Amino acid sequence: MTQVKPPKPSARPDRVSLWRYAKLFRQDILSAQPAKLYRAWMAEFRTPFFRSYLVNQPDLVKLMLKERPDDFPKSDRIAEGLKPLLGNSVFLTNGEAWKRQRRIIDPAFEGGRLKDTFPAMRSAAEAAVERLEERQGPVEIEEQTSHAAADVIFRTLFSIPIEHEVAGQVFARFRDYQRSQPLLNLATFVPLPRWMPRFFRSGTRRNASEIRALIAQLTAERMAAIEAGTAPDDLATKIMTTRDPETGSTFDTAEMVDQVAIFFLAGHETSASALAWALYLMALNPDWQEKVAAEAAALEDEAFAAVTKLKISRDVFRETLRLYPPVPMMVREAACPERFRNRDVPKGAQMVLSPWHLHRHERLWENPDGFDPGRWGTENGKQCQRDAYIPFSAGSRVCTGAGFAMVEGPLILSMILRRFRIEPVAGKAPVPVAHLTVRSKNGIWLQLIKR
Ligand code: HEM
Repeated sequence: MTQVKPPKPSARPDRVSLWRYAKLFRQDILSAQPAKLYRAWMAEFRTPFFRSYLVNQPDLVKLMLKERPDDFPKSDRIAEGLKPLLGNSVFLTNGEAWKRQRRIIDPAFEGGRLKDTFPAMRSAAEAAVERLEERQGPVEIEEQTSHAAADVIFRTLFSIPIEHEVAGQVFARFRDYQRSQPLLNLATFVPLPRWMPRFFRSGTRRNASEIRALIAQLTAERMAAIEAGTAPDDLATKIMTTRDPETGSTFDTAEMVDQVAIFFLAGHETSASALAWALYLMALNPDWQEKVAAEAAALEDEAFAAVTKLKISRDVFRETLRLYPPVPMMVREAACPERFRNRDVPKGAQMVLSPWHLHRHERLWENPDGFDPGRWGTENGKQCQRDAYIPFSAGSRVCTGAGFAMVEGPLILSMILRRFRIEPVAGKAPVPVAHLTVRSKNGIWLQLIKR
């Protein structure tokens, strides 16, 4: 059987005008890029307003993320689209403010805590499977995985399911926010001069403040429960009661609203995207699908230990994160002048790290565009996993939820495949595009058949 290649967006011609480039960006940052970026170690974008560099060379990526992260802080540009929603959350801050936030948040996500979080995660996975059982005919799976991932966040953070009234409202408002704010990526790559006023589409700010009001309500209720000694032992309680080991301070309610907003955004959008692509890849690869389904019998055991047996599912999920990294690009700013690959990089230059291109780099990976979960056992796969695989970023700013996501993703994937066989829907091959995360242009359609 010839294997169907996983969908890849077509690249633009090598040379286009700046105007056309900006227009392409508005549509989608992936197809706005030339094919040569899949072979380049570094590329420079020079325009009258700004310079940015895309860096694909493993030792330079390591330098920026792991060796000298303080010299490459997060670019302010990212904040432009997200500030109304995220305020001063850990995703956007730099320097001392960011370090303090990580000191308080990190303990909640330590390895040992994952075991405590697991029952809530498993309940969300079971609820997702039950929802799918009620469906007839082709299913748009991104919608389902978003629902499931949002449910995981609410259950693990606040011990409430997505059916809870406030949780459901946050989820619904968040979808509207995304629709009204598609300029995020344009702003990060084509920085506007600082004097230019920023326009958010109508509704964006209102939507953001509504989401924040709902989160504030949950956070205030939780603070009251902590003070009364009746709070459940979940992630919110852990984060709200952890003291900064250096100053002894805790987050106040307002700071906690910023952090909850990012947990919700970073934690559900990304996992939903990865899970939807993983399921689509399974539909394209029935042989791997059967292997995951067979292995999923281990989940009869409801204890956390069962997850360690889902090795194939984890390799499939890891391969999905390679081909469809939910965060396709990250932007940093050079805090001082640098010299990279014999080029002068001026202070203030925008440095783009692109998991999307690095993970499919033609000079690093064998079969870069092919789906092969077996690669992680090969020499090339192991080498590339160390040098050219950053779905969760790396270094001190690595995703706080990486361990959480690597339990959640394989767990839900296995739970679904244990119950259903899945097939692609004819005429509905998905086209990847980058919105906040890598999504499909017209959804991802699957046929689910009960086993
Ligand atoms: C498959 C799922 C996920 C992927 C691929 C992912 C990916 C990433 C990436 C690439 C970053 C760095 C972004 C940058 O530096 O510009 C990041 C940061 C972050 N992620 Fe995740 N993430 C996932 C799930 C989660 C979950 C489940 C949570 C929390 C429950 C979470 C919380 C965060 C937070 C708080 C940050 C900011 C960290 C900082 O800047 O110090 N993520 N994530």
